[in-house]
Amino acid sequence: MSDIRQRFPLLQHKTYLNSCSYGALEEGVEASILTYLRDRREHGACWEKWVAQLEILRGKTAELLGADADEIAIVPSLTAGFNALVSCLDFSGKRNKVVATSFDFPTTAQIWHAQKRRGADIVMAPLDDAADPRSVVDSLVDERTLVVSVPWICYRNGRRLDIATIAKLVHSRGALLVVDAYQGVGTMPCDVSVMQADVLLGGYLKYLMGTAGVAYMYVKSSLVKTLEPTTSGWFAQENVHAMAIAENVPAASARRFEGGTPDVAGLYACIAGLDVLAEMGVDAAARQVRHLTELICAGVLERGWELATGDHPHGAMLALRCHDMVALVERLGDEGVVVSCRDGNVRISPHFYNNEADITALFKALEKHRDLLD
Ligand SMILES: Cc1ncc(COP(=O)(O)O)c(C=O)c1O
Repeated sequence: MSDIRQRFPLLQHKTYLNSCSYGALEEGVEASILTYLRDRREHGACWEKWVAQLEILRGKTAELLGADADEIAIVPSLTAGFNALVSCLDFSGKRNKVVATSFDFPTTAQIWHAQKRRGADIVMAPLDDAADPRSVVDSLVDERTLVVSVPWICYRNGRRLDIATIAKLVHSRGALLVVDAYQGVGTMPCDVSVMQADVLLGGYLKYLMGTAGVAYMYVKSSLVKTLEPTTSGWFAQENVHAMAIAENVPAASARRFEGGTPDVAGLYACIAGLDVLAEMGVDAAARQVRHLTELICAGVLERGWELATGDHPHGAMLALRCHDMVALVERLGDEGVVVSCRDGNVRISPHFYNNEADITALFKALEKHRDLLD
């Protein structure tokens, strides 16, 4: 692991605990973007090679999620994939209810609310004070529910939902389960056949060490052909080379949720990021993340401070309660400790490339500014 850590220049001079916001840049990822730029500089257009990168990324993403390549759409953002998915849904019948949650990232909640004009009935499950989020979801899902939409891990407080259990109850009522897994994938094993999500989305720029402008969406194979988006484009066609203007023939695969020219530099970076994770191994990455988050939990408890996560299951990110989140992030930044904040709390998010020395540095800086914590 220390070999891999050496390849993250940022980690040589900062205590970077902000991967929930953006992953640290690894040298191979940086070099891969330069490969793209060199191609452009020397050859101009290399479309065949560039489009091949799209398929390489699709294949590696499928492998990471335990999915088939045909079940993966590569999209410009989680938002773009989510919009394409939601465009397929029909809210005109009796099943017009969507259960989303108070843990949602704004983008998913906002997209659901935008569907009210199309007849959707949006119910937000209040999970923040729930001891058992599953029972709250359980109480809201009925025979009118078309979709249940949950994040795997809440971006504000780090709480982790038990997706497999939620999937069982959602499916028993005949509804679909859509999971925003952005804050989880890369830090824990994520196997769609274990989770049983119908749709699962995320991006590459955080724990997958890629870059912005590229995201992924898994759609279960049995569902793909039943979902016909009203968003489309030439990269979404069954035959990308058809260049037809008389019709729209969506791909039989999850490519139907794509649209136009992908961010080629981003594809290179995201492939390289997945390669770094594969080199580490997801299980080993998960073990290191768990070890470091356990150290953080223990350190917080020992000092009498409080985590917004409480005793609940959590992901790689922990949210520390404080008196002034902006001031604390700034003061920690001055000490060389990079974290971020949301919802009144400071978010601390280690990845496998962090080590115990980073956690020691974190607590040293927190101790120094404990007036914002005690
Ligand atoms: C949980 C979660 N969902 C969605 C998003 C937004 O993704 P995108 O900007 O790719 O649409 C983020 C970004 O931080 C996120 O953390």
